[in-house]
Amino acid sequence: MNGHDVMSAQEVVLENADAVARHVAAFLLEKACEARRTFRIALSGGSTPKKLYTLMAAPSYASLFPWKKVQFFFGDDRFVPADSPDSNRGMAQDILFSKVKVPAANIHPMPDRGDPDEAARAYEAELKKVYGADRLMPNKPLFDMVLLGLGENGHTASLFPRQPVLEEKTRWVAPCVPDDAPHTRLTLTYPAIASSRYVLFLVTGTSKTEVLERVRAGDPAEPASRIRSDGQIEWIVDRQAAGQPQE
Ligand code: 6PG
Repeated sequence: MNGHDVMSAQEVVLENADAVARHVAAFLLEKACEARRTFRIALSGGSTPKKLYTLMAAPSYASLFPWKKVQFFFGDDRFVPADSPDSNRGMAQDILFSKVKVPAANIHPMPDRGDPDEAARAYEAELKKVYGADRLMPNKPLFDMVLLGLGENGHTASLFPRQPVLEEKTRWVAPCVPDDAPHTRLTLTYPAIASSRYVLFLVTGTSKTEVLERVRAGDPAEPASRIRSDGQIEWIVDRQAAGQPQE
């Protein structure tokens, strides 16, 4: 049970999506407050984390959170303007950042215009600047925490099935043009996600039950199955996603 891969990772099954958001919010607050220096987190996109970001923006939580110490990055984003309804950056800005006292310099959105490959290299350069080296080192995590979701087709971040980015071994950020989802995307690669203290998968709802089972079994056809962390991976799921009857 080393927790470095998706099969041996710990799984926490909670009543519902609200309980998942509360659990992750509490864990994030604990770890961010514990951190002696800067705390770097990569946010996930899509719909599942919206409850978490809404909870973090609530005054009762926001007043306790060490915003000045936390650097916010993105695990992936759709290559669309921030005012697009499909922008993860735009979503996080609307639901969270616009409502809390986070220094603007602590928010690191992925570029959303120009050439996607150059944009990915620019974001990688930004990560290398805060990391302080050009190569990822085993005992020096790039991220303290990476939040991930799980798509019904087994993708996570924007690591989509059948895409060249799945074989990326050196780049930290790369473009991805999925053949089964809209928009060109930028995504952290497996090596960048692995350079982490914690990887938290947030998975809720019955639409994820089957794919969650396949990924937990390590089905190599599912991109999420290949996620690793030098630190700890945890599955934070609700009873529906876990295929357990509601109490
Ligand atoms: C994205 C996400 C993606 C997401 C899954 C699950 O930009 O789309 O980062 O990896 O986590 O698609 O999405 P839902 O939470 O909407 O089911």
